[in-house]
Amino acid sequence: GKEDAEYLVSLVRSVPGFPKEGIIFRDFMPVIADPRGLKILLKALEEALPVKPDEFDAIAGLESRGFLFGPSLAEHFNKGFIAVRKAGKLPPETIGESYDLEYGTASVEIETSAIHEGERVLVVDDLIATGGTAKAAADLIEKAGGKVAGFSFVMKLNGLDGLDKLGDVPVSSLISMPA
Ligand code: PRP
Ligand code: MG
Repeated sequence: GKEDAEYLVSLVRSVPGFPKEGIIFRDFMPVIADPRGLKILLKALEEALPVKPDEFDAIAGLESRGFLFGPSLAEHFNKGFIAVRKAGKLPPETIGESYDLEYGTASVEIETSAIHEGERVLVVDDLIATGGTAKAAADLIEKAGGKVAGFSFVMKLNGLDGLDKLGDVPVSSLISMPA
């Protein structure tokens, strides 16, 4: 209900000037740390699921904060969990996808065997800002033969064109905040 939603928002910690000047860091770790917050979060993610349970086969979580609730959500819907990792962490064979950061590039990787041909994957992460991370993960999943069924975020930052990058796929986010 409304009380739960307000409680969830109240647990998000905003840190101005981190990781650099001009950025307000939206930290959802206190949500996870709080027993009631964690329960509300998982229930809210389940209820806000952007697709029906029979419209996806697996959940992919984005390192690192997508790892903190992705497996719980997957378990709830009787699916498996796929880890989309930052580059250089996984043993061969891997498949990767680069994306642009403000300065330079980064890349994400999965194990080649992690995705079965035609598998429908729901992508989860704590936050979408520019959408660069989520978009790279989606491209990676498709490159590996999967199909992105949708995206589920805890938070969305307004004023950035993050969601526009994701194309015409169902998306849910629980909390919207100024960038
Ligand atoms: C943060 C956040 C998202 C991403 C969103 O992760 O957890 O994954 O940035 O930004 P974007 O939409 O502009 O790509 P970060 O890369 O800081 O790493 P972490 O999750 O390991 O802390
Ligand atoms: Mg992250």
